Amino acid sequence: MRPVEICKDVHWVGAVDWECRNFHGYMTAPTGTTYNAFLIKDEKTALFDSVKASFGGQMLCRVAHLVKPEDVDYLIVNHVEMDHSGALPELVAATKPEKIFVSPMGERAMKAHFDCADWPIEVVKTGSSISLGRHTLQFLETRMLHWPDNMATFIPEDGVLISSDAFGQNWATSERFVDEVDRAMLQKQLDRYYANIVLPFSPIAIKTIETIEAMKLDVRYIAPDHGLMFRTPEDVAFAIARYKELAAQKQKKKAVLVYDTMWHSTEAMAHALADGLMEHGLTVKLMNLHVFDHSDVMEEVWDAAAVLVGSPTHNNGMMPKVADMLTYMKGLKPKDKIGGAFGSYGWSGEAPKAIAEWLTGMGMELPVDPVRLLYVPTHEQLKACLEMGRTIGAAVAAKLG
Ligand SMILES: Cc1cc2nc3c(=O)[nH]c(=O)nc-3n(C[C@H](O)[C@H](O)[C@H](O)COP(=O)(O)O)c2cc1C
Ligand SMILES: [Fe+2]
Ligand SMILES: [Fe+2]
Repeated sequence: MRPVEICKDVHWVGAVDWECRNFHGYMTAPTGTTYNAFLIKDEKTALFDSVKASFGGQMLCRVAHLVKPEDVDYLIVNHVEMDHSGALPELVAATKPEKIFVSPMGERAMKAHFDCADWPIEVVKTGSSISLGRHTLQFLETRMLHWPDNMATFIPEDGVLISSDAFGQNWATSERFVDEVDRAMLQKQLDRYYANIVLPFSPIAIKTIETIEAMKLDVRYIAPDHGLMFRTPEDVAFAIARYKELAAQKQKKKAVLVYDTMWHSTEAMAHALADGLMEHGLTVKLMNLHVFDHSDVMEEVWDAAAVLVGSPTHNNGMMPKVADMLTYMKGLKPKDKIGGAFGSYGWSGEAPKAIAEWLTGMGMELPVDPVRLLYVPTHEQLKACLEMGRTIGAAVAAKLG
């Protein structure tokens, strides 16, 4: 339970959740997560961001290696969501802070989460700054990135950007810095987190990066509230460049084929569609919803040019996992996709049309009408699916050049 030094007098004092597999109830986290908290030792000692309630003891143990908890003067709450505030009551009781700094929306959220009438809350806004002695804290509200209360804190003397959920990754590791781990895995975790949490707020992510660039902040460290920290110029540049790509939803020649199936007819359609798409050089991800969950699918959807969704008709509608997927996908607002809908049926066959309505509701363009077929596909029907795949593949190739 040791703290980790980021730079002189700035320390990581968070917690690693090795066992987390269900992140906040809506996405899977196959590699666990961390809740990061930071302590700055100075004339005034400041503690940033708390952890999930059950990890309060771990955080306080790490703090105690550096200072007596009661010697912490300021708490800074960059985000009131419970993975970063759950242990706050325990922390307030242990540290008896002189002040708790929070954004205007953060104050509102804090009052709605905690019995905090007697907490010494002080509201700070974009442009507010306070001095700890040798360190200055500059606050930057990042409303709706991804909650109204989110803010980031910049420490100009060391170039540390404490970025809250932005730049986070769900990855439990013994290492604390990006340069100590595998880069491809890091990018996968950064992408997966973005695609499942930050994606709908992409315009705000772009604006925030533009603001940071316009302010000419000399960012030398990015310390997010989940996962690993960026501490080399290359890694900081990588994080910002990758966030720009994620926020722009920069598309690849790629199609995601997501489906459910009872007796494998819809699955056979999916395979024929995949062949047609591949003929046009697309990378295809075939995702059976019994194997992949909705967060796995979104990890692939954000940079795909086409999304094809299939379901057999089940009790006059689509299969429940497909409805789950579409509900989840719609909320994350994927941008500018080409869509497709398909499925097998037995007597009424409503599913493909219902899927197509969802896809057009997400602003997708469907170059081919929804395709459905009776029970088990014939050779001719599979050829029609292949043709549909070719048409969509050609549309993607024409769009992306
Ligand atoms: C429990 C159940 C409910 C079904 N409900 C409908 C229905 O309401 N309308 C329809 O057209 N077909 C319905 N079907 C038939 C399936 O859509 C059909 O068997 C289809 O070929 C299954 O495709 P799959 O092989 O991809 O699972 C139902 C099948 C089952 C097992
Ligand atoms: Fe959050
Ligand atoms: Fe978080």
